Amino acid sequence: MHVIRRKAWEIPASLTTPEAAFVDRRAFLAGLGAAGAYVAWPGRARADDADPSAGLYPAQRNPAYTLDRDVTPEKYNLNYNNFYEYSTNKRLDASALKTRPWTVKLDGLVEKEQTVDIDALIKTMGLEERLYRHRCVEAWSMAIPWTGFPLKKLIEFAKPLSSASYVRFETFLDKKMAPGQRSFLPWPYVEGLTMAEAINDLAFIATGAYGKPLAKVQGAPIRLATPWKYGFKSAKSIVKISFVDKRPETFWEALGPDEYGFWANVNPAVPHPRWSQAQETFLNDGQMRPTLIFNGYAEQVASLYKGLDKEPLYM
Ligand code: MTE
Repeated sequence: MHVIRRKAWEIPASLTTPEAAFVDRRAFLAGLGAAGAYVAWPGRARADDADPSAGLYPAQRNPAYTLDRDVTPEKYNLNYNNFYEYSTNKRLDASALKTRPWTVKLDGLVEKEQTVDIDALIKTMGLEERLYRHRCVEAWSMAIPWTGFPLKKLIEFAKPLSSASYVRFETFLDKKMAPGQRSFLPWPYVEGLTMAEAINDLAFIATGAYGKPLAKVQGAPIRLATPWKYGFKSAKSIVKISFVDKRPETFWEALGPDEYGFWANVNPAVPHPRWSQAQETFLNDGQMRPTLIFNGYAEQVASLYKGLDKEPLYM
């Protein structure tokens, strides 16, 4: 994935083939193999030493959300991230991200705008753990134990008007705190869902992972997790959630509308213009696995897309 428009999201073409996945796997595992590497790397720091929410983790696991595969080891998850505000490299340093104080503004088509402190929000919403698959458009995947609350619960709290058709998510904008935002890219990072998608049970707001508050590289202190969609839909470090009546233009759509769309539902039968989506490299073991329609969540979400056949649902 590079920031140059023409090559946005590109991975070494090799990574999409089993042969190069093996090469990549060896490099990947070797990179992780050095004892102590994980703790020494500053970007791996937890959200904040003085995180007031830390005592609320681990939360009880919701048994409705289980997996057909092992959870990805935390050390892999913390060392293979996409967070362009910090770097286009996967092994990035987000230690400059200040996660307290942190507020989230709920605005747009709502009964009343609110700006909520993250710790008050976490207490109000309550926390649960869910095991979710996580599939990047770059054709790699993980399985992550997120902690957080259903987006639907936050929407009820925000009290949107009936005229709201979309939810728009916006990441912080602070060039001092995020060196990547000094680049030409269309900052801040913006993502969006339809209201119907946002109130689906699967749409989840994550404030933690692996039984702890989110690490900075994971998008502390609050991010989205929509496991039936490609990972770029899961905006990190959110500061604003707006209810709107027009489809928001997303960060990646603004950069490459022919390659990254609004819907971005996982579908093995619809290739990315530059690579196949039929398989994915599962980062636990570097092995290729067949990609599943809606990333395995068809039962929960397929009905959201009835009658939308003319939309580019899978890009
Ligand atoms: N959110 C912000 N603010 N900035 C980003 O660069 N990258 C997206 C998404 N959310 C991104 C973001 C992409 S491309 C993916 S695949 C996931 O975050 C990666 O999440 P992870 O690093 O926790 O695996």
